[in-house]
Amino acid sequence: MIEHMGNGRPTTTSYRPLDAPRAAFNGHTLLMSRGLRNTRPGKGWLEANRGDRDDAMGYQSIEVRKVTPVIGAEVHGVDLTTPLGNQQFQEIHDALMDNLVIFFRDQKLSVDQHADFGRKFGKLHIHPASRSPIEGHPEILLIKADETSKRVAGEVWHSDVSCDIEPPMGSILHLQVVPPDGGGDTMFANMYRAYETLSEPIRKMLVGMTAMHEGEHVYRGRYGVNDEGKVFPKAEHPIVRTHPVTGRQALYVNRGFTTRIVGLKRNESAAILEMLYQHMETPELSCRFKWQANSIAFWDNRCVQHHALWDYYPSKRYGHRVTICGDKPFYRA
Ligand code: SIN
Repeated sequence: MIEHMGNGRPTTTSYRPLDAPRAAFNGHTLLMSRGLRNTRPGKGWLEANRGDRDDAMGYQSIEVRKVTPVIGAEVHGVDLTTPLGNQQFQEIHDALMDNLVIFFRDQKLSVDQHADFGRKFGKLHIHPASRSPIEGHPEILLIKADETSKRVAGEVWHSDVSCDIEPPMGSILHLQVVPPDGGGDTMFANMYRAYETLSEPIRKMLVGMTAMHEGEHVYRGRYGVNDEGKVFPKAEHPIVRTHPVTGRQALYVNRGFTTRIVGLKRNESAAILEMLYQHMETPELSCRFKWQANSIAFWDNRCVQHHALWDYYPSKRYGHRVTICGDKPFYRA
């Protein structure tokens, strides 16, 4: 079982790979902790070769360097253009569970390699509104901005496609072209910490409440195709969701997709959502990733929100995202 310390952090850094046996509860699926490494193991060869590091995580086949104590880590010592061994896959998954978003540098991935990496973590998601620019790869989401752009993807804090009944578990963005003078960073915020740092009365109030998430206002007219008659997804999700792997509670409403809290008057809902958004956007809950060509960011949408900064107009920024299917959000005490 996953064990928790007083602050809600799991005491183990090892999690079941996604194809591992699952235990069902409350009609939902919990991916069980593997228990093979129920304490952090000794230093691996990568750390040994780089000397002592205070933030050494005890990984054996990769090196994980935290970006902040709260969220984000760079993963080194892996080449994603070659097939991952079981241990590297497991440790990348563990690094994602531990750090919520992980970053890789200098990965010249082809579209096939990018999709194959995503498929290691689950079935790939097809976007409900955007069409892939790449023949035979409907799973690719184009991320592109240049001097002709009127808006860019992800300019508002959000969790990807939270309007889906089963929103994506994770997203893997590979940028090939970055603005020459910098800019275009992506911010990522820790939604476990956002929940944990609310006062107890507010946490109690939110547990059991649900909110609507809708795609209509986000996607209609957005992608330059005729979407007349198209119905975009909408879904009702718990405001506090239990992460199916770590068992931790995370705040799950976002400025992009959430439209209202179910059962409240409009002004009550708007006031509570705005209070939560402002809280989530506290700078101490986030990290900011500076892209280079061929960097990758892999985030867990179940416990992370992100925000793409568009401070580089008219420069070009270009890449592909693959998105991994997820489960229906649930709350378990
Ligand atoms: C997104 O996937 O929401 C866009 C993120 C980015 O462009 O940095």
